[in-house]
Formats: sequence, C-alpha cells, structure tokens
Amino acid sequence: MATSGMDEFNRKNRDSYDAIASRWNAARSGFVAREQTYLDAFLDGLPDPAQLLDLGCGSGRPLAEYLLAAGHRVTGVDQSTAMLALARERFPQARWIESTIEDYASDEHFDGILCWDVLFHIDRARHRRLLAGFAAMLKPAGRLMLTSGGSAHPAFTDTMFDREFCYDSHPPETLLGLLDAAGFDLVVNEFMNLPTGGRDKGRVAIVAKKRPELFAIPT
Ligand SMILES: C[S@@+](CC[C@H](N)C(=O)[O-])C[C@H]1O[C@@H](n2cnc3c(N)ncnc32)[C@H](O)[C@@H]1O
Repeated sequence: MATSGMDEFNRKNRDSYDAIASRWNAARSGFVAREQTYLDAFLDGLPDPAQLLDLGCGSGRPLAEYLLAAGHRVTGVDQSTAMLALARERFPQARWIESTIEDYASDEHFDGILCWDVLFHIDRARHRRLLAGFAAMLKPAGRLMLTSGGSAHPAFTDTMFDREFCYDSHPPETLLGLLDAAGFDLVVNEFMNLPTGGRDKGRVAIVAKKRPELFAIPT
C-alpha cells in the first residue's frame, strides 16, 4: 500500500475504521436520505455501462452495490484493510484497491468518480489538489459525486462506535469555488443535514459535471 499520503488524519481514521468495520457493516446496509436520487443524477448521461471510481468506498454497500447491480464497472479505493475486505468479499466482480485517496493514481480515465462521506475525513489543505486530480482522472463530461461539511468550522474529532475520527471541511461556499476552479459545473448542490450549531456541522451533497475543455482555435 502506498503511504506517502498518510498523515495524522489518515492514520487515526484508518485505525478507527479498521476497528469498527464489522459494526459499520451491520449499520450501513441501505441508502439514507436522498442518496439514491443523487446516484441517479450522477449516472444521468453517463455511458451504460460506465467505468466508475469509488474513492473511500468503505464496505461497498450500498453505493457500489447499486452501481454493480445496474451493470456498471466499479473500482473501489479505501485505506482501511478491514473495510475493503468487506467490499472484496461481498462483490468479488469489482476491483478493490487498498490505498489512500491522496496516493491513488491511475492512467485510466473514468466516466464518474464518487467520494461519498470521505472528503470530510481529509485535511482541508489537501482538498484543492484532490479535486483537481479528480477532474484530471475524469473523461470529458464525466461526473463527480461527493459530500462535504455544511458549515464553517475548524478541524475537529468526533466519536463513532466508541472510536475517534478526524474531520475537516471547507465551508460550502469555499468548496464551490474549488469545484469551479477544478473545472466542474454543479448538477446537484443541497444540504443533506443542516448544521445544528452544536455537534452536527451539517453536510452538503454535490453532483458535478466536468466542463468541456476549451481549445483555442488557430486563426
Ligand atoms: C464514512 S465511510 C464512507 C464509506 C462509503 N463511501 C459509504 O458511503 O458507505 C468513510 C470511508 O472512507 C475511508 N477513508 C477515509 N479517509 C480516507 C483516505 N484518505 N483515503 C482512502 N480512504 C479513506 C474510510 O476507511 C472509510 O471506509
């Protein structure tokens, strides 16, 4: 496994996801809120079958499960050995790669990239470069689907199943600027949950489409 993208965030989150994988697996069995609607908006206009990259794929359920059942080809990437083992066992027909998202590189170009409930586990100083990298890995008119934090806040830790996890996100308006700079147009931009001013910092769901590149016409 490539590890140069490993920082304190990654290490803590990897160890915690490894520790909670079986409890996560039991809990994350189906879609929550409008996840299926976002997936359908993400798939809209993509080839059938599409080549899809699921970054931070977790157990592969329910997102990769839905995509594979629809006949698409999925490559899943996750830094947690235990989470990836669940995906590998459940969906042997897909390709599963153990890596940090930061270290993952491919010569392949994908029709769509998912980074669902993952970007907020990565130091925000890395988000600009990651989003530009996602655009570079997408084919023209490829689509990106992600979540990010829903308010302005400093990096924080929170607990899930008695383990500590690191979180960080740009405020939503900054994220939109980064997506624009990376060459994406918005298809969906909505709050999945609103910030409470307390523990819940909110969460935004984004589906975006890679803009066609402009070429100068020689005169
Ligand atoms: C909240 S879970 C979401 C899993 C899946 N996307 C879903 O929606 O069910 C976050 C996943 O991202 C992975 N992850 C977190 N940070 C990562 C990183 N920097 N590189 C690769 N995987 C990461 C974790 O191991 C975990 O499986």
